[in-house]
Amino acid sequence: MGFFWGRRHLLAAAVLIFSAAADPNDEQCLTGLSQSLIDPLQNLQNWTKATFANPCQGFTSFLQGATCNNGRIYKLSLPNLSLKGTISPFLSNCTNLQSLDLSSNSISGQIPPDLQYLVNLAVLNLSSNRLSGEIPSQLALCAYLNVVDLHENQLSGQIPQQLGLLVRLSVFDVSSNKLSGPIPGSLGNRSGNLPRFNASSYEGNKDLYGYPLPPMKSKGLSVMAIVGIGLGSGLVSLILSFAAVCVWLRVSEPKSENEHEGKISQLMPDY
Ligand SMILES: *[C@@H]1O[C@H](CO)[C@@H](O)[C@H](O)[C@H]1NC(C)=O
Ligand SMILES: *[C@@H]1O[C@H](CO)[C@@H](O)[C@H](O)[C@H]1NC(C)=O
Ligand SMILES: *[C@@H]1O[C@H](CO)[C@@H](O)[C@H](O)[C@H]1NC(C)=O
Ligand SMILES: *[C@@H]1O[C@H](CO)[C@@H](O)[C@H](O)[C@H]1NC(C)=O
Ligand SMILES: *[C@@H]1O[C@H](CO)[C@@H](O)[C@H](O)[C@H]1NC(C)=O
Ligand SMILES: *[C@@H]1O[C@H](CO)[C@@H](O)[C@H](O)[C@H]1NC(C)=O
Repeated sequence: MGFFWGRRHLLAAAVLIFSAAADPNDEQCLTGLSQSLIDPLQNLQNWTKATFANPCQGFTSFLQGATCNNGRIYKLSLPNLSLKGTISPFLSNCTNLQSLDLSSNSISGQIPPDLQYLVNLAVLNLSSNRLSGEIPSQLALCAYLNVVDLHENQLSGQIPQQLGLLVRLSVFDVSSNKLSGPIPGSLGNRSGNLPRFNASSYEGNKDLYGYPLPPMKSKGLSVMAIVGIGLGSGLVSLILSFAAVCVWLRVSEPKSENEHEGKISQLMPDY
């Protein structure tokens, strides 16, 4: 025990001494993120180039929303700050990041697949933004992910099958997006009689189906209906145009004959 605490104190002292040498990866991460985000209300205090070079002193952070651990950024929490812009792929240079919360802003663009390099990431909360595009399947490489909250965005495409590999997931919420396709079995799978994640995690999407949501059959019917209407209206317009051509031929043929006859009869001297 004494040895353990001794080491901890030594470590803290070392961190204080060497904290001037900031981590170049964190600097790249913060610089990239501040360039991609737009902060119209100037909520981000100390988010300046000078601070990026030295954002942490041991366990103290000089950046609003950042928490430090051993001189590295390990938590970024910037919810509800009216932020716009996009999420920089350079965010992945904050390699010690364990928790990322950019929820309840107006951030748009895609979720960068580069987040896969955040191998320590446990909490990802990007809910209530304007993110679009697909959920990157690469997120499955963040093996420690515990919380994935992406609700209330404009994400489209299917839920990547690979996310089912995240064995530590305890919260998964993709409700209120524009997702479609089947819910991967491993994410809707029952344990006993209870779903791993219930319907509230999936509601409010465009075309998601499968347990714990209803199966595809109703959607299958509507597709059949659309095909039926399409075929039916195609057939009707075909018949109509055929009929129109027939009528036109009937009307125009004798008419031209009459005209022809008329011309001939005009040419013929009338005795
Ligand atoms: C901004 O930095 C100064 C010193 O560099 C620090 O005292 C202050 O607490 C920081 N502000 C925030 C919001 O972290
Ligand atoms: C978000 O920020 C607005 C304005 O600063 C505030 O009125 C509101 O209570 C905040 N909402 C949450 C959920 O913190
Ligand atoms: C920083 O992140 C970018 C985007 O993912 C990557 O291309 C670059 O190699 C990273 N830099 C370092 C030093 O890892
Ligand atoms: C994500 O953030 C939103 C809004 O800030 C919050 O209401 C929600 O509880 C968070 N999700 C999780 C799983 O903590
Ligand atoms: C549910 O998950 C278990 C392992 O967690 C697996 O053995 C089983 O096949 C899954 N069932 C379905 C229907 O996907
Ligand atoms: C669904 O799960 C969430 C979180 O686990 C819980 O708060 C909610 O009550 C559940 N809803 C239903 C209908 O079971």
